[in-house]
Amino acid sequence: VEADAAWFDEVRRLASERDAVLLAHNYQVPEVQEVADHVGDSLALSRIAAESAASTIVFCGVHFMAETAKILSPGKRVLIPDARAGCSLAESITAEQLRAWKAEHPGAVVVSYVNTTAEVKAETDICCTSSNAVEVVRSIPAETDVLFCPDQFLGAHVKRETGRENLYVWAGECHVHAGINGQELAQRAAANPDADLYIHPECGCATSALYLAGDGAVPSEQVKILSTGDMVKQARQSSAEEVLVATEVGMLHQLRKAAPEIDFQAVNDRASCRYMKMITPAALLRALREGVDEVHVDAGVAESARESVRRMVSIGQ
Ligand code: 13P
Ligand code: SF4
Repeated sequence: VEADAAWFDEVRRLASERDAVLLAHNYQVPEVQEVADHVGDSLALSRIAAESAASTIVFCGVHFMAETAKILSPGKRVLIPDARAGCSLAESITAEQLRAWKAEHPGAVVVSYVNTTAEVKAETDICCTSSNAVEVVRSIPAETDVLFCPDQFLGAHVKRETGRENLYVWAGECHVHAGINGQELAQRAAANPDADLYIHPECGCATSALYLAGDGAVPSEQVKILSTGDMVKQARQSSAEEVLVATEVGMLHQLRKAAPEIDFQAVNDRASCRYMKMITPAALLRALREGVDEVHVDAGVAESARESVRRMVSIGQ
């Protein structure tokens, strides 16, 4: 299947025939982003999914995102163009592991990143995304212990921002973001001293970026730790000429659209998520034609997970 004008028209025609809204995460391939009704980060897309009047949601992203939409809207049909599109970070904690961790910290509040399975969300008090993780943790009384899972780098970022000693962080990671290392970032920043740095908090190099700023190697106002949605907002108001971007490479498409005059370069151009890229133009067309792959969440699990996801969508901008 070629993502040409005929493909585009057919996808749009089928979407309206099926009363489907097409949502695409910022890491999707450009063609899928272009044909979608909405492109955004995990938080924005969850909110749109919850509020949409369409009877079918086609989630062009990874499985936990589609599951989250189904938890929020159990009466809607939720499709993902390829159900094999998983997430290495979501796999880094199981519900059983979380239950054991909770047993070691009675009374703690559990904050889980949205990059988790529905079963983990069912064991969670409040979910968060990288856009609102700091605000979610700030909403919990200071004296209450917090268990934060599964991403260690986002957890470290939240701990730094909130200065909270009683925040315990699970040691999970995303293989794509963990692979964007500090040495590579330091070299790229040294070669482009005027460039702003946009760093996703899931990156292994987020701490190194702050060291670079602390050492004066990069002026601190040039270092920005941002979710993918906040990167686009930042780009729209930026006067920088050059920006080095530390996240999955699909992000460059929306950034270049938002600010065509800025030169955006990936810190690591091999940082591509194979799961996000399973949502091909052919898979999207098949999803609309055949109504596959439909996402189901066990009703009891969804019921237990719903409140934590609702709290997530209600906190932060
Ligand atoms: P956000 O788009 O919420 O920043 O999440 C990034 C991510 O890795 C999703 O898988
Ligand atoms: Fe998961 Fe990482 Fe891929 Fe995002 S980029 S979907 S966190 S594996």
